[in-house]
Amino acid sequence: MLWQLLVVLLLLWYFSKIWKIKTIITATRKLRNKYIAIPFLGHSYLFVGDNERHMNVFKMFSKEAMKNNYNMTSFWLGMDHYTVVVEPNLFELFSKECLEKTRFAKFARSLIGNGSIFAPVDIWRPKRKHLAPTFSTKNLNNFCNIFSQQSLILVERLQSTLTSDKFSMWPFITTYTMDSVCETVLGIQIHAQTDKEQPFLKALNEYLTVGSSRIFKPWLYIKAIYKLHPDSQILRRTKKTIWEFVSNIIEKKREDIKRTKSKEASSGVESTESFLDLLLESADGVKFTNHYLIEEMLVLLLAGTDTSAVGAGFTCVMLSKYPDVQMKVYEELTEVLGDDLRRPILHTDLPKLKYLHAVVKETLRLYPPVPIIGRAVEKDVLLPSSITIPQNTEVILSIWGMHHNPKLWGDDVESFIPERFLNGSVPSGAFAPFSVGPRNCLGYKYAMMSMVTAIATIIARFKILPAEETDNLKRPLRVKFSTMMKPVDDFEVRLEPRHL
Ligand code: HEM
Ligand SMILES: *[C@@H]1O[C@H](CO)[C@@H](O)[C@H](O)[C@H]1NC(C)=O
Ligand SMILES: *[C@@H]1O[C@H](CO)[C@@H](O)[C@H](O)[C@H]1NC(C)=O
Ligand SMILES: *[C@@H]1O[C@H](CO)[C@@H](O)[C@H](O)[C@H]1NC(C)=O
Repeated sequence: MLWQLLVVLLLLWYFSKIWKIKTIITATRKLRNKYIAIPFLGHSYLFVGDNERHMNVFKMFSKEAMKNNYNMTSFWLGMDHYTVVVEPNLFELFSKECLEKTRFAKFARSLIGNGSIFAPVDIWRPKRKHLAPTFSTKNLNNFCNIFSQQSLILVERLQSTLTSDKFSMWPFITTYTMDSVCETVLGIQIHAQTDKEQPFLKALNEYLTVGSSRIFKPWLYIKAIYKLHPDSQILRRTKKTIWEFVSNIIEKKREDIKRTKSKEASSGVESTESFLDLLLESADGVKFTNHYLIEEMLVLLLAGTDTSAVGAGFTCVMLSKYPDVQMKVYEELTEVLGDDLRRPILHTDLPKLKYLHAVVKETLRLYPPVPIIGRAVEKDVLLPSSITIPQNTEVILSIWGMHHNPKLWGDDVESFIPERFLNGSVPSGAFAPFSVGPRNCLGYKYAMMSMVTAIATIIARFKILPAEETDNLKRPLRVKFSTMMKPVDDFEVRLEPRHL
C-alpha cells in the first residue's frame, strides 16, 4: 500500500511541476529565444564548457533580449526560469520590485552570514540604513590619503616589472585594493602589497577559491555530501581564522573607544576614521554585537576589493590599447598636478580629473566588473507592455547587455569613446555598472576615488603599453566569468618609465 501512495504523491508532485512550467511558458511566450530548451535540462547544456563559455552564454542571451521587441528574453536552467533584462526602464522597475537576491546567494552566506549584500530583505533593510551614512562625502574625502599612500606603494612595486616583458597587472592591483580596503574598513595596515604570507589574507584567498569551486560541482550542492568532502574542513578552518581576525580588531577598537572616552579626547591628533570606527560611534553603535559587525566588515572587504581591482585593471588594459586616450589622460594630469607630477593625489584633485573619470566610466561600460545581477521574482510583476513575469522565477539584470545595447547607444556601441561621458550623450539610465534602485552599490563613489587615484599615480610615472604589438588592438577583449567578469589573459600589459 505504501508504494502505491508514494507513486500517487510522486505523480502529483510531477504534475504540479509541469503545471507550473506550463503557466510560465504561456506567460512568457513572447520572450522566447532562438536556442532550444531540452526537457528537464532547459538551456543548461549551453553552459557546458570553461568560464569563457559561461560569459559568452550570458552575452548570447543578452543579445537575444536586445533583438526582442519587448527588450527581454527568457531561458531555463533545469526547471528554473530566468528573464533577462537589457533596457533602462525595465531595469529600474525590476530593481525596485525584486529586492530579494537569487538562490546562489546562499553560498556566499556561508562566510558572511546575514551580511547586508546577500541578506534576506527584512534583515538587509535596517543594515542598509546603518551602513549608508558612513559613505558620506566627508568620510570618503578623508580616505583619499589612504588611496594615494597605497598607490605610491603600488607604483614602487611596479618598478620591478620594468625589466620584464609582458606581465599580469592583477596581483599588483588586487593587493593595492586589499590594502586600501582593509585600512579604510578596519583601520589597520595589512601590507598585502608587500607580505604575501599574511595569515588573514591567505585564509581569505583559500576560502574564496575553495568555496567558489563548489558552484560548478552540482553534486556538492547536497549538504550531507559536502560535509564529508575535504573542502568543508578547509572552509571551516579558514572561516575560523577570518572571523577571529576581524573579531579581535573589533574588541580592540571597543577598548580604544572606552579609553578615549574616559580621557575625554585628550590628544588633538585626528586620524582617519575607518568604517568600523564610524559604525561604532554612530547612534546605534553600542547596540551592535560583534557578530553583526564581523558580518558587515566582511561584506565591505569582499564587495570592495576585487570589484575595484577589476575596474582599475580593465582601465589599464584599455589605456594600453588606446595610446591617444592615454596621452590625453597624461596631459590632464600635468595640468591638474602642476609642476610636481609625482606628488600624492589629493581629494581636491579628483573632481578636476574629468577626462580620466570619463575613461574609467567608458571602461566600466564596455567591461562591467559585475556583468549580471540575479534577483528572485517573489510575486507576479506586471509590466507596462502588459506582459506578466510570473512569481517563483528569477530575473537577470544584464548590466553587460544594457551597456552593449545598440538600441540605446547607437551603432558605435562597441567603440571605446570616453568623450561620450563628457558631452551629455549617455542615454538616461543606460549606464549602471553599480546597479540602480534601493539595493544598488553603496561603494560607487568610494570605488571611483580609489580607481582614479591609483591610475593617476601610475600614469604619472609609466607609459602603459599593450602586451602584444598587433594591428588588432581595438578588437574586443576576450573575457571570462569567474565570480566577476575578467579578461582571459588576467590584465597583461607592459610598462615603460616616463622620463620627466
Ligand atoms: C568598480 C567597483 C565596484 C562595482 C562595479 C560594484 C558593483 C556592485 C553591484 C553591481 C552591486 C549589486 C547591486 C544590486 O544587487 O543591485 C554592489 C553591491 C554592493 N557594493 Fe559594490 N561595487 C564596486 C565597489 C564597491 C566598493 C569599493 C564597496 C565598499 C567599499 C562596495 C560596497 C557594496 C555594498 C555594501 C553592496 C551591497 C548593497 C546592498 O545590498 O544594499 N562596492 N556593488
Ligand atoms: C524597448 O527599448 C527601447 C529603447 O529603450 C524603447 O524605445 C522601446 O519602447 C522598448 N520597447 C518596449 C516594448 O518596451
Ligand atoms: C540569518 O538570520 C536568521 C534570523 O535571525 C537566522 O535564523 C539565520 O540562521 C541567519 N543566517 C545565517 C547564515 O547566519
Ligand atoms: C558626443 O561624442 C560622441 C563621440 O565623439 C559623438 O558620437 C556624439 O555625436 C557626441 N554627441 C553630442 C551631443 O555632441
